[in-house]
Amino acid sequence: MSDEPISKSPKPKPARALGRKTIRASGTPRELMTPTPDLKGVWKAKVITLFPSAFPGVLGESLTGRALQNGLWQLETIDLRDFGVGKHRNVDDTPAGGGAGMVLRADVLGAAIDQAMTGTQGNWPLIYLSPRGKPMSQELMQGLARADGVTLLCGRFEGVDERVLEHYGIQEVSLGDFVMTGGEIAAQALIDATVRLIPDVLGNAESAIEESFSSGLLEHPQYTRPAEWHGHTIPEVLMSGHHGKVATWRQEQSEAITRKRRPDLWARYVKRNSGDSG
Ligand SMILES: C[S@@+](CC[C@H](N)C(=O)[O-])C[C@H]1O[C@@H](n2cnc3c(N)ncnc32)[C@H](O)[C@@H]1O
Repeated sequence: MSDEPISKSPKPKPARALGRKTIRASGTPRELMTPTPDLKGVWKAKVITLFPSAFPGVLGESLTGRALQNGLWQLETIDLRDFGVGKHRNVDDTPAGGGAGMVLRADVLGAAIDQAMTGTQGNWPLIYLSPRGKPMSQELMQGLARADGVTLLCGRFEGVDERVLEHYGIQEVSLGDFVMTGGEIAAQALIDATVRLIPDVLGNAESAIEESFSSGLLEHPQYTRPAEWHGHTIPEVLMSGHHGKVATWRQEQSEAITRKRRPDLWARYVKRNSGDSG
């Protein structure tokens, strides 16, 4: 495919100087992660996990990986095993009252959280990834991107001792209505969606403005070359080079898709745009 845009659109703005310390790319993704203290004023995710080798995982790739290398955000893992008790560094025990599985111990979690929160400043939420939590949303990610950083607690087994959640006033956040074996994938989803909202992480800032949820609507359909594929053509208007008509078509498509697929979002959008704030 050629580098030429498929229809006439404004040239993307050149990349701005980052004005930050550059962290050199290293051979292994794990080395992208920094210990504290670190780059002042740079958004950071601290992740408490039994599986630190799962990080950066997919976050070390593409835009998020490059931004991590360039010091636009930071990542630190706190190995829960380091806080385990006894010769075998146990982190879990059987559930009080009986039942299947194991529960992560309050004393072990407490020590890990205390260490993770040491030195954090400003607005720094503490979140437990949990199927019982509030579902993740673009609004949540926008709030987190404005924070100074976030500490994420990844559960395993049957979850964590409830007293820890109460003691620290931990916010519970869910990836969706299903149960995974651990919180690590949910943590990476949250970090990915947040980091891409940090200024300069996305090369073309406009793509974050135009995509699904940012305006309260789902995104319009996208097309690229070839102009014809298996007899399917690209809508004429997108090939016209007429920016006004393209914008109108996209808005209409966004509205139609949202109305059909997500009546909940559509109702909220209509209410917001009718000026009814009540
Ligand atoms: C097997 S799950 C525990 C499920 C728990 N017994 C329950 O029924 O709610 C183990 C860990 O995976 C993580 N987890 C599982 N599903 C999740 C989801 N939908 N969203 C976020 N985290 C999840 C949580 O950290 C949880 O502590």
